[in-house]
Amino acid sequence: MSLSAVILAAGKGRRMKSALPKVLHEVMGRPMLRYTIDAVRPLKPQKMVVVIGNGAEAVRNRLSDEDHLSFVVQEKLLGTGNAVAIAVGELLEGVVLVLNGDCPLITTKTLKDLIKKHQRSRNVLSFLSFIDDSMPGYGRILRDERGRVSGIVEDKHATPAERKKFKELNGGVYVMETGVLNYLDRIKKNGSSGEYYLTDIVGLVSGEGKKLEAYTCPAEELRGVNTRKELYEISNIVRERIIEKWMDRGVTFIDPETSFVHPSVSIGAESVVYPNTYLEGSTEIGKNCIIYPGARIQDSVLGNNVVVKDNTLIEESRIGDESAIGPFAHLRPKSVIGRNAKIGNFVEIKKSSIGDGSKASHLTYLGDAVVGSDVNIGAGTITCNYDGKNKFTTVIESGVFIGSDTQLVAPVTVGSGAYVAAGSTITKNVPSGALAITRIKQKNLEGWANKRKLKVKSEK
Ligand code: UD1
Ligand code: MG
Repeated sequence: MSLSAVILAAGKGRRMKSALPKVLHEVMGRPMLRYTIDAVRPLKPQKMVVVIGNGAEAVRNRLSDEDHLSFVVQEKLLGTGNAVAIAVGELLEGVVLVLNGDCPLITTKTLKDLIKKHQRSRNVLSFLSFIDDSMPGYGRILRDERGRVSGIVEDKHATPAERKKFKELNGGVYVMETGVLNYLDRIKKNGSSGEYYLTDIVGLVSGEGKKLEAYTCPAEELRGVNTRKELYEISNIVRERIIEKWMDRGVTFIDPETSFVHPSVSIGAESVVYPNTYLEGSTEIGKNCIIYPGARIQDSVLGNNVVVKDNTLIEESRIGDESAIGPFAHLRPKSVIGRNAKIGNFVEIKKSSIGDGSKASHLTYLGDAVVGSDVNIGAGTITCNYDGKNKFTTVIESGVFIGSDTQLVAPVTVGSGAYVAAGSTITKNVPSGALAITRIKQKNLEGWANKRKLKVKSEK
């Protein structure tokens, strides 16, 4: 059997009230359209056609890394029937799967089942339906006295009697023989909306006595996103599905309601995720890690036994086993932290590597720095990496001790085992094993305070 798939994604999504095309609105960090594509892909269709229109370039660009997709452009948004008609030229003879790009919860299994039922029953047209009174705005499936599908009427065009009688709703997922595509030409423009409804094909096929059927499946899978409220509801279901998967694999969530884990994140067993946490993008968390409240970790890799303390932001960075980051730390992109290292309160690190066992525990900025192992960076250390035009590197070799409140004016190297005295401004390289100190000598003026007091009194 040859299978072609058509995903409808040209609509404006007027009800979203957004400049962004609806199908690019994100559900847990990825455009909702990707979920539909991901559900279809395992069916291995020979052709996968996405109908784009509103924001066509934006949609195409957002999917540029997807293989084997072809795009057709629907210049005028004349409805779902017109959208499929535009894709016809791309399709192969055989079975065609058509689905809306705004239903991110559909699963591969349900699609597979539908195709199976379609073929077993030798239908020319099969589609998914569901029953849920709480979901407004879907097409209603009309059945005759014998229970045979006779058409679909959109909710907004249905009469009160139809609304009362027909409770089975259209999921917007259709499997058809290519012959059925000939009926597209016969769909009439809807009088009130000016659109060509794909759903009208059902009445046409039924009217000719051809074999067709609607198969119910779990309502949840067919929930479409038409409004921001539905976007939230669907995102929440996706969120729950992801968290349940990780719980099944041995991850503890203290409050699953407030943790957000993107679909491509992985988390090792025995890790514990506290409330109000965001694990995003391609993040990989090792085993036995603890992610405390307020952490956001984006596109980063954490080893095993890593602790991320409260209110920490980690972006595009790597952290070795046994290390601790935070509270209130910020690892900016391209930070590489070794094993058993400690990055503490109010420390910002950018494009730097920090060796095994090194510590920067308080109030520090390390940018464009290469820090060896077992280095102690005192509180308030700043790498002065930028002269207003260019960025320069600071090298701190292994075993160095940087005293508190030091400024390292890059480019500069502190040799292995050297000490830098607290409060120094280092502008020249420090040889290995040396002590660098740039403070002026302290002077104590004995009795100064009392003298000042007397002076202030006499002035009054
Ligand atoms: C559609 C169905 C409805 C079904 C529901 C399921 C029609 C007429 N109605 O309604 O019976 O219950 O889906 O979710 O089909 N699109 C285009 N070009 C267009 C118009 C729409 O590509 O000219 C795309 C949209 O981007 C969207 C999909 O088709 O991904 C469905 O369009 P939408 O406007 O959301 O239809 P619904 O009102 O949800
Ligand atoms: Mg819709």
